[in-house]
Amino acid sequence: MQPKIIIHGGFFSESADTEEIRIAKRNALINIVTEAHEYLQNNSALKTVIYAVSLLEDCELFNAGLGSQIQSDGKIRMSAAIMDGFSKKFSGVINIEEIKNPVFVAEKLMDYEDSVLSGAEAQSFARQHGFQYYNPETESRRRSYIEKLSESSRVGTVGCVALDAEGKLAVATSTGGKGFEVPGRVSDSATVAGNFGNDFAAISCTGVGEDIVSAALAAKIVTRVTDGLSLKDACDRSMNELKPYDGFAGVIGISADGEVYHTDSHPFMVWASYAGTLEVFS
Ligand code: GLY
Repeated sequence: MQPKIIIHGGFFSESADTEEIRIAKRNALINIVTEAHEYLQNNSALKTVIYAVSLLEDCELFNAGLGSQIQSDGKIRMSAAIMDGFSKKFSGVINIEEIKNPVFVAEKLMDYEDSVLSGAEAQSFARQHGFQYYNPETESRRRSYIEKLSESSRVGTVGCVALDAEGKLAVATSTGGKGFEVPGRVSDSATVAGNFGNDFAAISCTGVGEDIVSAALAAKIVTRVTDGLSLKDACDRSMNELKPYDGFAGVIGISADGEVYHTDSHPFMVWASYAGTLEVFS
């Protein structure tokens, strides 16, 4: 099986992002997908999605890890999840604070029966496992917070789906949330609506968490592929179902037969893939 990978960095925000930021995001996605694709040659899909998402979290252009959005009370709370399509194990952290890479805490939780933790308990689990204090706030996010964030800039998440040489699929997703939300609000990213995979397909979502959860989006697409639809048809049919309530979402996915696909409901998700050749949003 030829290893394949696709990543996303959330949505480009027409009102908040400049042309300079668009180019910077494009270059960052090219570098990260190239590095992660190289890594995938000698590592499993599972290890690769964790690695790729950690690189996306470390890049302050994206809303995950460093550079996460700030919530209405001035704090940053992050969520991340991993799903191994082979073992069907899902792990995640919800609303964790003061951690550098939430995806690595989700990785640690893969070894535990209680594999999804939230809030202070997630942070205390992380500290017990050697994750040091880290402040993910950037000056630019603080400025946006002070300006109270425009509606259209409130969408961003990062994600990666990979298919490895053994034909195994995995997916990881990480987010700083939608920005300026009520503390306690739960993102889709660490749920099966935003991050789901099995032996047939794996999907990572970005967009407005409430819309994605209402559609059970990632789990629904994967179920449709499992029941025989192509990845494209499963994504397109599920995205059509967002239309009656103007749901705002973008998805990336790979199916076990090697189909790589991405689509979004509104302009426009930033993504890059490596499936034989490098492709990136323009
Ligand atoms: N998709 C990220 C969020 O709504 O929090």
